[in-house]
Amino acid sequence: TYVVTEPCIRCRYTDCVEVCPVDCFHGGPNFLVIDPVECIDCAVCVAECPVDAIYPDDEVPADQQDFIALNARLANQWPVISRAEPPPDDADDWSVVTAKREQLSE
Ligand code: SF4
Ligand code: F3S
Repeated sequence: TYVVTEPCIRCRYTDCVEVCPVDCFHGGPNFLVIDPVECIDCAVCVAECPVDAIYPDDEVPADQQDFIALNARLANQWPVISRAEPPPDDADDWSVVTAKREQLSE
């Protein structure tokens, strides 16, 4: 499966959801996750993300391994998102912030 990681938090550009052939993105207030049960590993979403937040599960950075379980958990909690939505007004400001996981809203 593919995994959404920390750079997405408060950026939520949603370019990724438009290309997913199986609609496996689920959207929360300021972050998206991928349902690991539905993802078919096509990889097309990776290049769409302006902040490079999406990784295959075997390449998730060492300091972000917890996002693998986080995607699985929140995919069961949040609704499917399959159409792009406007990003937060301050998304570009947050795109340069690296340590922001405490900003994640569930
Ligand atoms: Fe969707 Fe493919 Fe990305 Fe999986 S790898 S989330 S199936 S676009
Ligand atoms: Fe997040 Fe990147 Fe998609 S910022 S919403 S993973 S395009």
